[in-house]
Amino acid sequence: MTRAEQPAEQQAVLNTASETASDSDALVADSRERAVRALLRFPPLRRLWSAQVVGGIGDAVAVLVLLLLTLQASVLQGTFGDGYRGAAFAVAAVLGARVLATLLFGAVLLGPLTTLTSPSGPLDRRWTMIGADGLRLALLIVAPLWIDWSPENAPAVLLITVFVAGVAERFWTVAREGAAPALLPAPPLEGAAVRPLPDHLDALRRLWLRTGFAVIPAGAAVLLVATLIGNLLGSGIEWFSLHQAALGSYIAAGLFAASVSTLYFLELPRSLTPRPRSPLEGLRRPSTGNGLDKGRTDAIPLFVLACAAVAGAISSAVAVSVLHAFDLGGGPATFALLVLALTGGTGLGIRGAGSVLPTLSRRRLLALALALTGVALLAMGLVPDTATVLFLALLAGLAAGVAASIGHALIDQEAEEFRRGRISEHLQAVVRVAIGLGAIAAPLLAAAIGPHRLASGDFVFAHGGAAFTLMLVGALLLPVAAIVLAKTDDRAGVPLRRDLGDALRGGSDPAQAPAATGFFIAIEGGDGAGKSTQVDALAEWIRAKGHEVVVTREPGATPIGKRLRSILLDVSSAGLSNRAEALLYAADRAEHVGSVVRPALERGAIVISDRYIDSSVAYQGAGRDLSPTEIARISRWATDGLVPHLTVLLDVSPEAARERFTEAPDRLESEPAEFHQRVRAGFLTLAAADPGRYLVVDAGQEPSSVATVVRHRLDQLLPLSDAEVKALEEARKAAREEARRRAEEEAARKAEDERAERERQEQLAKLRAEEEERKRRELEEARQREAA
Ligand code: TYD
Repeated sequence: MTRAEQPAEQQAVLNTASETASDSDALVADSRERAVRALLRFPPLRRLWSAQVVGGIGDAVAVLVLLLLTLQASVLQGTFGDGYRGAAFAVAAVLGARVLATLLFGAVLLGPLTTLTSPSGPLDRRWTMIGADGLRLALLIVAPLWIDWSPENAPAVLLITVFVAGVAERFWTVAREGAAPALLPAPPLEGAAVRPLPDHLDALRRLWLRTGFAVIPAGAAVLLVATLIGNLLGSGIEWFSLHQAALGSYIAAGLFAASVSTLYFLELPRSLTPRPRSPLEGLRRPSTGNGLDKGRTDAIPLFVLACAAVAGAISSAVAVSVLHAFDLGGGPATFALLVLALTGGTGLGIRGAGSVLPTLSRRRLLALALALTGVALLAMGLVPDTATVLFLALLAGLAAGVAASIGHALIDQEAEEFRRGRISEHLQAVVRVAIGLGAIAAPLLAAAIGPHRLASGDFVFAHGGAAFTLMLVGALLLPVAAIVLAKTDDRAGVPLRRDLGDALRGGSDPAQAPAATGFFIAIEGGDGAGKSTQVDALAEWIRAKGHEVVVTREPGATPIGKRLRSILLDVSSAGLSNRAEALLYAADRAEHVGSVVRPALERGAIVISDRYIDSSVAYQGAGRDLSPTEIARISRWATDGLVPHLTVLLDVSPEAARERFTEAPDRLESEPAEFHQRVRAGFLTLAAADPGRYLVVDAGQEPSSVATVVRHRLDQLLPLSDAEVKALEEARKAAREEARRRAEEEAARKAEDERAERERQEQLAKLRAEEEERKRRELEEARQREAA
């Protein structure tokens, strides 16, 4: 693992960087990681750490539960005004109380606090921690009861609870920071028995930081489980359905009790007091002798901006997630899930950042991760469906974690060794401020915006202030991403899309595809398989169809290729290393494809190549001891992924082939029989893997029979030549002409028949009329005769 790939927490504290400057980065990272894990092998320290885990989760659950309870109490009373705005103000008040407690006792009153818990002060560290836990235990047991006991005062009492619990957390942390170094084993150095090693202290800070972050999603998960169980209980016991957060509160109390019992059995030796560290330490920009520290390429301020922006954005999203959960029609469980997705996603993103698109420029990835966080938050606000919102929250968290980790790594890389410690402290302070500001500003913003309903026809867009806040925060990250990309890009001139495409495909291995125009035939086979004969016969046959045919070969179809060929085949090159041989064939191929094959295919010609990639895979891969997969990869790169439309494999046993040699064998032909056996097997393996693109012909038969088989296959595959197309069109035209002539004849004949028929009918009618006239006359005559 390189320094750039370390998770952010590992990067965060680098105070010992100067001491390890001589080691390589990878070694440093690895030894740091091991140092952190090694700490937990000291039983007393592990005990203290377990207390931090349990108490930390308790603290996270407590904050979330108190938020829910205060919200419930204040909405019932209308403490902060009615409706949506009242709820949003309540959230801001709770988070404000917590941030205030942390700032007041973590930064402003840090000095007195440290003195109080120092060995010479009045407070014993172990009892301070136990007391802080006990106090919070008591607060959380009574917290859910205030709403019943004193509904009017409940909001104020709960806010005080939040503040006091926050102060207790600070006392706990300061006492722990003072106590922990004494739990480390004494260093082996003589005369330094009272001071722990700086490496240990560094690892210790890293451990606290990491644990401090991990307990937040863990707390959300605990709250989720508690809420689900509470809902189950609620169906039986009415009190629980009215007090949905109560069970969470008792679980938090239980966690503090567990922490107390862990601490009770901890033995703390008296130790020196380390320098107190405020959460805002380093907030003023670390400055060098002549001004601001911008690192090696002036990019540090932008990376700090990026880290602060994602931290603030995720903190804002967490802060409004309780409002958003209720807007979505959910309850405490949805809230817990949202917090879990956002913070758990961030943790996973930080851990996994090193393996995200490892070939992409880290600076570009930072900008992309920022943008993705923004888009995900924006979409979270837009979409009204809970499941989708949860998915988007996870996505936003993951992207934010990746951005944070990469931002830290880049700052680390940019900063000169001796300034790293200060810069990293500065970064942490800025990030903390961003988190605090986000937590308070976001609910205030949600209150200011309030719920809105836009309707136009059937389209209804009804969203709460929380949704608009999420959208706004997400949208604000986009320009930050754009600025980071524009100002820090280290790949200017290379389109981001291409870089990203390459990285997504896992490196720059080109996609394989046959050419879009023309037709490419590769003739493959062992030495003496009769390739040249077939190539000539085939070329003649295809030319007769009216195609432009380009006959070519590997190696040696180009001027450079001819020189490479002479190196490769000259018997005096004996001893050429296998890898060099593979690369020389690949070099010849790259030149061949670039200057002969592709141009011809682009013209629409039929290209017949005597040997292509498969020869390398079979000879250098299967024949020598190189990996066929790697050989294929080199050739793919050399040809930018050009594959033939058809590969004809002329398969013949090496013994039969050898009898056909007429000239002195070249360097490869002189290889032993086993080599040629392996080559043959290599070819057959390739053909078996992709039967659609291969034609395997038994080359032991008469050349004319081989040619017939090849022609038969090509008849189905070859595109039509211009001449063939023209002939075909002419034939079609002639056929149409003939059909038209026939139709005309037919029509004329029909007209003639009709005319004859009409005449016949007329004749008939005439005869009939004459007959009738005759009869009438006869009748007339008869009548006259009678009358006479
Ligand atoms: P070829 O041109 O077929 O030799 P000839 O003209 O003597 O028939 O091929 C030259 C030799 O190069 C042949 O033995 C196979 C070998 N070869 C490889 O080992 N790898 C390759 O990638 C190529 C194209 C050829």
